Amino acid sequence: MKLQEYFLLPGPTDVPSNVLRAMSKPMINHRGPEFEETLRRITARIKRVFKTEGEVFTLTSSGTGGLEAAVVNFINPGDKVIVASIGNFGERLKQIAEMYDADVDFIDFGWGNAIDPAVIAERLQSDVNHEIKAILCQHNETSTAIVNPIKEVAAARGDHPALLIVDTVSGLGAAEFDMDGWGVDVAIAGSQKAFMAPPGLAFVAVNSRAEEVMANSGNRKFYFDLNKAKAMLEKGQTPFTPAITTVYAVDEALNYIDDVGVDAVVADHCKRRDLVRAGLRAMGLKLIAADDIASPAVTAVECPKGIHPDELRKLLREKYNIIVAVGQGKFAATTFRVGHLGAVRTMDLFAAIVGLELALTELGVDVPKGAAVAAMEEMILGAK
Ligand SMILES: Cc1ncc(COP(=O)(O)O)c(C=O)c1O
Repeated sequence: MKLQEYFLLPGPTDVPSNVLRAMSKPMINHRGPEFEETLRRITARIKRVFKTEGEVFTLTSSGTGGLEAAVVNFINPGDKVIVASIGNFGERLKQIAEMYDADVDFIDFGWGNAIDPAVIAERLQSDVNHEIKAILCQHNETSTAIVNPIKEVAAARGDHPALLIVDTVSGLGAAEFDMDGWGVDVAIAGSQKAFMAPPGLAFVAVNSRAEEVMANSGNRKFYFDLNKAKAMLEKGQTPFTPAITTVYAVDEALNYIDDVGVDAVVADHCKRRDLVRAGLRAMGLKLIAADDIASPAVTAVECPKGIHPDELRKLLREKYNIIVAVGQGKFAATTFRVGHLGAVRTMDLFAAIVGLELALTELGVDVPKGAAVAAMEEMILGAK
């Protein structure tokens, strides 16, 4: 038997015990009234998390399926699109868009930076014939632990008609997001992140402007045809057999998000981010993200010189039961990531920080003992 771990990943996240219990309910007919009621209930509440009056389609897939659905339904082959990238998942959006023969203008803002909305504004202003059909980007880039200024990117579009398609798989419910208020047309999220549920569902939120594009989509697709999803949602169903147990889980987790309110859930994530960053810095570790763009979902940390992050993560896992995430892409050999997404508690963060202090000391790093905990306690006491 394995003892419970301190599970600090930016997804999948820890699943609270009441959510796990909700998943053990008997199966129901996905063409019956009970499922219809549940799907309608979760859809209405997920809309509140996105802050949209638009439609939300629940797909049985991981987040990447949601990204693929966005590409095949809102971009046609040959369409000119901007992919604004700041890391691993921006590169994935490029791959998907190119796979479906979009003409991609890949703007790489660099790993460690956020999107500069002025660059997007410039590109769109020079596109006088409105050939650019969409701008795709991340809300929260999980690989570098950076939040993009989506509100400003949306504003930078001005009256250019390009759709703004935002991957908020790891951002929604953790970082501020206001789909309708900001003017985002399509946004994609996933069950295994701030929704505190297991993997299995992607949520694609779509406004009326995007629905028009979707209705006239010329791309070949079967499973990810959102027009089918729309027709079935009107009947309270999904086109294909959904991950019913994950739907149960999301339904239960939404009770919490609804009770507390999404803004308060986001504020909690921000507090956890600030606490982790204070602790890591007091330990002498270097963080990838600058304060003003730091992710409330995850923190990417540079591993001290001479230590491979895999070695550190192994020690944390085997000796202290602490799971932190691997660095991604070009950061794989030099960084690790501490997730503070979903159901992570403040005291879990203290455990992780103390574990890290012990593990680094054992690996020969000169870490000031107790400094991280002191900095974190000070932050909490000072905020009172
Ligand atoms: C920003 C972002 N986009 C997309 C994905 C892909 O989601 P999945 O692994 O569920 O396919 C992830 C997963 O971590 C993510 O963080």
